[in-house]
Amino acid sequence: MNTSDLPSFWVLIPAAGIGSRMRADRPKQYLQLADKTIIEHTLACFLSHPQLRGVVISLAVDDPYWPNLPCANDPRILRAEGGAERADSVLNGLLRLYELGAEDQDWVLVHDAARPNLARSDLDLLLAELADDPVGGLLAVPVRDTLKRASADGRVQATVDRSTIWHAFTPQMFRLGALQRALADALIAGVAITDEASALEWAGQAPRLIEGRADNLKVTRPEDLQSLNLLWHGRC
Ligand code: C5P
Repeated sequence: MNTSDLPSFWVLIPAAGIGSRMRADRPKQYLQLADKTIIEHTLACFLSHPQLRGVVISLAVDDPYWPNLPCANDPRILRAEGGAERADSVLNGLLRLYELGAEDQDWVLVHDAARPNLARSDLDLLLAELADDPVGGLLAVPVRDTLKRASADGRVQATVDRSTIWHAFTPQMFRLGALQRALADALIAGVAITDEASALEWAGQAPRLIEGRADNLKVTRPEDLQSLNLLWHGRC
């Protein structure tokens, strides 16, 4: 498929988290990975895509790091205010997209700020597979390890059937209107929402799982950044 046959899309990056599990001196998206910060790598994959319409990044109000990055001056990237939880940051970002002229039927791709190794081939795969989908979906990877259910005392209670279990990655791609309504309703109902797909699931939809690359890693713990550094330097 030619790139011009892919649908156009908006990107929303929630980047208002603290990332406490990294135990670093700054939010994890501002840590260095090879020649740039993690967030700059994350943005690069989208900014080079010809079907991109614009990016909204949800940031903590007092974020002192973002304004110092060169991409803060990119006219395609606009700020929204972060919220208490990831879902609040996403919802604020979606409302900002409407202010920019986005419409209910537009595709929006929500992607973690600290997931810097998205391959262009995975992005194109997601766009191509979901272009005509009535719901949307997400990049995901089938679980490979054996899974155990633990008891309260830290012993194995059972081995879980892994054949239908997937890791949910990002980007997660949905229609702006459907995602905004599902998230807003779920938050009002007090439902715990950990990713965009779970809001759509709560609204009764079944997002599609698109198998992506396992190296689309999210930086959560220090060893994740070490793994990414090894990947990056292996390419040099
Ligand atoms: O902590 P975790 O890696 O699960 O966060 C996923 C994404 O959600 C990160 O990009 C983080 O910055 C963002 N986030 C946010 N607002 C919050 C909490 C997390 O934008 N209140």
